[in-house]
Amino acid sequence: MWNRRFAGEDYLYGTEPAAFLRREAGRIAPGGRVLSVAEGEGRNAVWLAAQGFEVTAMDGAPNALAKARRLAAARGVTVDFHLADIALWDWEAAPFDAVIGIFIQFAPRAVQDRIMAGMKRALRPGGLLLLHGFAPRQVGYGTGGPPDPDQMYTEALLRDRFADFEILELRDYDAEIAEGPGHSGRAALVDLVARRPA
Ligand SMILES: C[S@@+](CC[C@H](N)C(=O)[O-])C[C@H]1O[C@@H](n2cnc3c(N)ncnc32)[C@H](O)[C@@H]1O
Repeated sequence: MWNRRFAGEDYLYGTEPAAFLRREAGRIAPGGRVLSVAEGEGRNAVWLAAQGFEVTAMDGAPNALAKARRLAAARGVTVDFHLADIALWDWEAAPFDAVIGIFIQFAPRAVQDRIMAGMKRALRPGGLLLLHGFAPRQVGYGTGGPPDPDQMYTEALLRDRFADFEILELRDYDAEIAEGPGHSGRAALVDLVARRPA
């Protein structure tokens, strides 16, 4: 399904990073190692690489990664791209200074829980997790995201799942987003920035 969505030439979520990432990336240690999960067409990974981070990015859709590779080449940056199913990702292969997940609410809650647990394990002690997605009321807005409110984030859910982390930012808000034809218009968003204890 995802691969078909990415079959066209256009970038479904644009070629510029999520506004959330621009706001929060300054918290990551300069030059740090960053893992982007379900990266899609490369907009976030490529921007991070251009900021001087050493970026690893994974996604399960070959069409998305082909476009991500083209974007990296066009911008003259290097990203370590991996085509992989997130269910099979080896979270402990290397410790990262930051792990980012931007609009990765594609799976039911139990699967999302396993992904979040994996993202936490991929961090070095003191490393940062950056998570950005939709709140349940997004379902009524029709401006992107899955149709199931149970797949969305609430502050209470993330506070629970990251109870063992230091929460630096947790916010539920509405904003206008212009992130390609896939995410455009008024959106109900949740941001989380959390630190793995040192
Ligand atoms: C809404 S898109 C977000 C893409 C990107 N993070 C962004 O913000 O532009 C969700 C992404 O999850 C990927 N995805 C869905 N299921 C996956 C799986 N099982 N393993 C890896 N990636 C998956 C899709 O291919 C798609 O790129």
